[in-house]
Amino acid sequence: MFEPVQNVRCFHLFGVLLFLFTSTKIAEIKSEEILAKDMNFKLPSGDLMPMVGFGTYQVRGADLIKSTLDNALGAGYRLIDSAAAYGNEKDIGAALKELLPKYNLTRKDIFITTKLAPHDQGEKAYQALETSLKNLDCEYLDLYLIHWPGVHGVNSSSEENKKLRQESWKQLVKGVKNGLTRNIGVSNYNVRHMKELLANDGGVKPAANQVEWHPHYHQPELLDLCKKEGILLQAYSSLGGTGNNDLLTDARVKKIADKLGKSPAQILLRWALQQNIAIIPKARSKKHIDENIDLNFVIPEEDMKILSSFEQTKYAWDPDTIA
Ligand SMILES: NC(=O)c1ccc[n+]([C@@H]2O[C@H](COP(=O)([O-])OP(=O)(O)OC[C@H]3O[C@@H](n4cnc5c(N)ncnc54)[C@H](OP(=O)(O)O)[C@@H]3O)[C@@H](O)[C@H]2O)c1
Repeated sequence: MFEPVQNVRCFHLFGVLLFLFTSTKIAEIKSEEILAKDMNFKLPSGDLMPMVGFGTYQVRGADLIKSTLDNALGAGYRLIDSAAAYGNEKDIGAALKELLPKYNLTRKDIFITTKLAPHDQGEKAYQALETSLKNLDCEYLDLYLIHWPGVHGVNSSSEENKKLRQESWKQLVKGVKNGLTRNIGVSNYNVRHMKELLANDGGVKPAANQVEWHPHYHQPELLDLCKKEGILLQAYSSLGGTGNNDLLTDARVKKIADKLGKSPAQILLRWALQQNIAIIPKARSKKHIDENIDLNFVIPEEDMKILSSFEQTKYAWDPDTIA
């Protein structure tokens, strides 16, 4: 009589332990199970946008574009971020034609973003979109962004900026309707610019807002607004930008990196990703390209809080100056 009960008790105890073990294990695996390279955000169009992309600012010249994109596609990046202003659309288009078959990929497997240059704001925006499409040598873009709320040659405090960026948006909406781009969005829009656009979006909500975002500069109010509206916030200069090591050498970042056995760059990138903010790190070396998508770990909550508590310094242009 006693033995079976004990066995049952043992079984129960074993069961409880097994449950505790597997549930902890599952919890651990769950938070890590989606590899960074497979993380996506569902846009209002229904398209899936990769949360980790590859930045190409200052990556210029056919050879450099080809070798970096070769390494990026090989590492698993499926989003490429360009801009008319980067002067690399043609080289990206040519490189992709050659590289996609190498990785058994077709156009629909990758996500191409490019941006409207500030001197093409207003009615010219539609034509600029057509030019980017031609340069990239593809039939459609996945995402076309207004690069900057201001207009080249217009005084930053002038109301003309507002008028012209609203006209740009109308042209971009036409671009969506005509199939030139599947999604449209903005970049460097602050809360004021976003609210203005949301009140007059011509029936197409911005899919994303690409902004400077890193532990030395982040805007919780903007993130809240984007989350509430279902707009993806995409971070740029997550590592501080080219030629700026302030973030990568920040002792507080380094301490967390050492503790978790990761590099400072991985901590900076994972910090954004863990807040559901998309990232587009730029790197030329294969080592950095591989490292920046190897983000399958979790930063503990207490370290997330430390990373979010630094004094703030803006490194890129300030959109608050634009009316
Ligand atoms: N919308 C906008 O106004 C805007 C503005 C800026 C940037 N962007 C976009 O965002 C992308 C990323 O921003 P970003 O180019 O300013 O800079 P970033 O990604 O913050 O930093 C790039 C710099 O970090 C270095 N780096 C990369 N990986 C590293 C690693 N694992 N360890 C140490 N150093 C590393 C790179 O060096 P190497 O190249 O030598 O590897 C490069 O010098 C741009 O390329 C662009 O697509 C958009």
